Amino acid sequence: MEEAKVKTHRGGLGLEEAMRRRAARVERLSGQIDALGAQKFGNKITFEIGCGKGHYLSAYGAKFKGEMCVGIDLISSRVRDGGRKNERLGNSNVFFIKAECSEFLDALKSKNIELKKIFIFFPDPWPKKRHHRRRLIQDEFLANLKGFCAPEAVLYFRTDHSEYFNRAKEAFLRSPDWEVLADSSLPFEEVSQFQRLLPVFSTLAARLKS
Ligand SMILES: C[S@@+](CC[C@H](N)C(=O)[O-])C[C@H]1O[C@@H](n2cnc3c(N)ncnc32)[C@H](O)[C@@H]1O
Repeated sequence: MEEAKVKTHRGGLGLEEAMRRRAARVERLSGQIDALGAQKFGNKITFEIGCGKGHYLSAYGAKFKGEMCVGIDLISSRVRDGGRKNERLGNSNVFFIKAECSEFLDALKSKNIELKKIFIFFPDPWPKKRHHRRRLIQDEFLANLKGFCAPEAVLYFRTDHSEYFNRAKEAFLRSPDWEVLADSSLPFEEVSQFQRLLPVFSTLAARLKS
């Protein structure tokens, strides 16, 4: 079918076509994940969602060479910047992939790969109430993420948006799967692009319950 014929009257894609494209992206990501060679790192990964230009993960991976680090972001140019930082630092254990989070996790479903550490720094806060459901950290996300994690995986969340921080913390406290840790310090500090712009922030660390 020609592309133009599946457009709706609003110019968007029909549901079927949108689903077909999503499935194609997930399949492409599945191939990219296979090509990473996670078995060399014991099939465990340190994962950053919304890595931006890779400031944090490229520096983290340069320090922890024994960990395989994967950063994903929706925006190609940011992911490319991350790749350039890797080159400068000589990282062979850090990978930046253009991907939407739920699509990446869908691609990960059939793999024998577990998330050991998860970093989420300065995710879009979607400040308007009617947009809160677009926020990444929600009850459903935390329940779903559990299925991809290694035992006792730790998630680190940092934001400048105090209302989002409080709502996210409530979601962690409500969750039967995650335990909020008293010590929220990161294993390593490096100022990300948004942290430089937003120097007042809060951090939460939570461990997957065993
Ligand atoms: C505010 S920026 C923060 C970037 C970086 N973490 C930092 O601290 O500088 C949020 C990033 O998350 C990415 N992003 C938003 N939603 C995403 C999703 N569903 N999956 C992957 N990346 C996403 C955006 O493209 C953007 O680069």
